[in-house]
Amino acid sequence: MTNDRRIFAPATARNREAIRDCLTARLPDTGTLLEIASGSGEHGHFLTPIVNLNWQPTNLLEEQIQSVEAWRAHEERPNFLPCLKLDAMADVWPVEEKGYAYHPITTVFNANMIHIAPWGVCEGLMRGAGRILKDGGQLFLYGPFRMNGEHTAPSNAEFERWLTDQNPDFGIRDIADVEKEGKRNGLKLIESCPMPANNFIQVFQKQV
Ligand SMILES: C[S@@+](CC[C@H](N)C(=O)[O-])C[C@H]1O[C@@H](n2cnc3c(N)ncnc32)[C@H](O)[C@@H]1O
Repeated sequence: MTNDRRIFAPATARNREAIRDCLTARLPDTGTLLEIASGSGEHGHFLTPIVNLNWQPTNLLEEQIQSVEAWRAHEERPNFLPCLKLDAMADVWPVEEKGYAYHPITTVFNANMIHIAPWGVCEGLMRGAGRILKDGGQLFLYGPFRMNGEHTAPSNAEFERWLTDQNPDFGIRDIADVEKEGKRNGLKLIESCPMPANNFIQVFQKQV
């Protein structure tokens, strides 16, 4: 019998080095990175020894909050902060509440959420990142994207069929729609970094 609640997500093991290389070349040295939908918590566990920022994990689901806490307990890192409960669609995120101690939030990071959620979650993510980032702050958005309405690989078309079987409101988003949503919230798409397995990191910058 073990009390270890760490979740091991196979996708994270596959994508973490590529994400590390993109992020470490672009992250600021100060402030806090807010991760939306941390899932298992492995991205934070892997990257906190490498980055100078505080890493603020968050999750919607209790089981995933417990996984992040188990990863934090497994190997303590002073810049890996306690996981907060956060719904991307909420009008106020917990880091906006009075007393939150790790300002300024200079970066928002989200991996593999907006295609495995209804479009309203992407809208919520952009609204929230637009609210909390200051001028020059960046949002890094990892996942598969369509371009000009088309999938970037046949395997993504197959993946989308699987997604929409789970929920017809899920689906691989077109970068033009995501870009438009960013713009509505003061976030300009400044870079698209190709990642392995037909994924991208889209980099948005808050511009006031
Ligand atoms: C495929 S997992 C990705 C987890 C992690 N980022 C990773 O890359 O391993 C998708 C995550 O999106 C989260 N999610 C879905 N809707 C959400 C919402 N409204 N607010 C916050 N998280 C949400 C789910 O709970 C789940 O953890």
